[in-house]
Amino acid sequence: MILLGIETSCDETSAAIVEDGTRVLSSIVASQADLHAKWGGVVPEVASRLHVERVLPVITEAMEAAAVGSASVQAIAVTNRPGLIGALVVGVACAKALAFAWRVPLLGVHHIVGHLYAPLLSEPTFGFPFLCLVVSGGHTELILASGHGSFCTLGRTRDDAAGECFDKCARLLGLPYPGGPEMERVARDGDPGAVAFPRAWLGDSLDFSFSGLKTAVARFIETDGGRTPTADVAASLQAAIVEVLVNKALLAAERTGVCRVALGGGVAANKTLAREFADACQRKGLRYVVPPVELCTDNAAMIAAAAHHRATAGEDDGLAIDTVATDYLPLCPSVAAGRSK
Ligand code: KG4
Ligand code: ZN
Repeated sequence: MILLGIETSCDETSAAIVEDGTRVLSSIVASQADLHAKWGGVVPEVASRLHVERVLPVITEAMEAAAVGSASVQAIAVTNRPGLIGALVVGVACAKALAFAWRVPLLGVHHIVGHLYAPLLSEPTFGFPFLCLVVSGGHTELILASGHGSFCTLGRTRDDAAGECFDKCARLLGLPYPGGPEMERVARDGDPGAVAFPRAWLGDSLDFSFSGLKTAVARFIETDGGRTPTADVAASLQAAIVEVLVNKALLAAERTGVCRVALGGGVAANKTLAREFADACQRKGLRYVVPPVELCTDNAAMIAAAAHHRATAGEDDGLAIDTVATDYLPLCPSVAAGRSK
């Protein structure tokens, strides 16, 4: 079965053609990062306008690259929640128009569920159940994926996401946006033990917290007066983030007894994180996947893959599907109950 995936929840306009849920025939991503850089972060209004300009050319490019015409597309999958409202609306409106014109089912996909399918796209034999640590600019979530459509958030950040912490601290250090990749580059020449930044363990919780770390970095920069090399600060910050992420992922594996673990989201591009995650998994005898960067960062292939089982079951959300614009949308209501955000 051939699906067209569309993703416009934040600052990447993406379309992909995926066959049978695992074969990526094409995946096109038009990133807006350079255009948002001058403001030091994503400007929602600018993101929406750029999606409007780019969404149809990107879909056309994806179909041409896959040599797939409209008559071959059997369903359309689109991210409809959560995300920036103006950005989501562009992808969803476009998907509705195409589904109507081509007379194919339309499936709305939860963005984080899309991220959970990146490990399965990169390693189709990985299989359920698995744990996935989704770490991006907007999310830090530890999720148990038990089967198609069966997901449970075991832990999530109580304040800033890990990528947000990288980005905000990079800004404090005078590094350009997006700060994560730049922080990693600068950290390469630094000593990770130079500054003892705090690790928020939060007792035995599987939740995360990175806002205290950001404050600690701000205070350190203020009081240090530039004596410590930026590389040492960057390496120490990176070490603090990576240590917490890797330890909590392993703790979740130990608690659940699940022996397959994966990384996802843009922060998974960080080589220190990927290496320490892989080393820790090997030490514990866990099977692991760190998908290639192009599948970790926002892309429409993961959205199409996430909808495949629903499309094959004959499901159709119809043209009335709505967008849900919120920074956090629970995957499992029971665990989300009582949370403040
Ligand atoms: O998943 P993503 O592309 O977009 C969303 O936020 O959904 O993730 C972007 C985040 C940014 O915060 C960026 O700084 C971070 O991922 N990032 C990195 C690296 N590459 C991207 N953080 C640390 N090291 C990297 N190499
Ligand atoms: Zn994402």
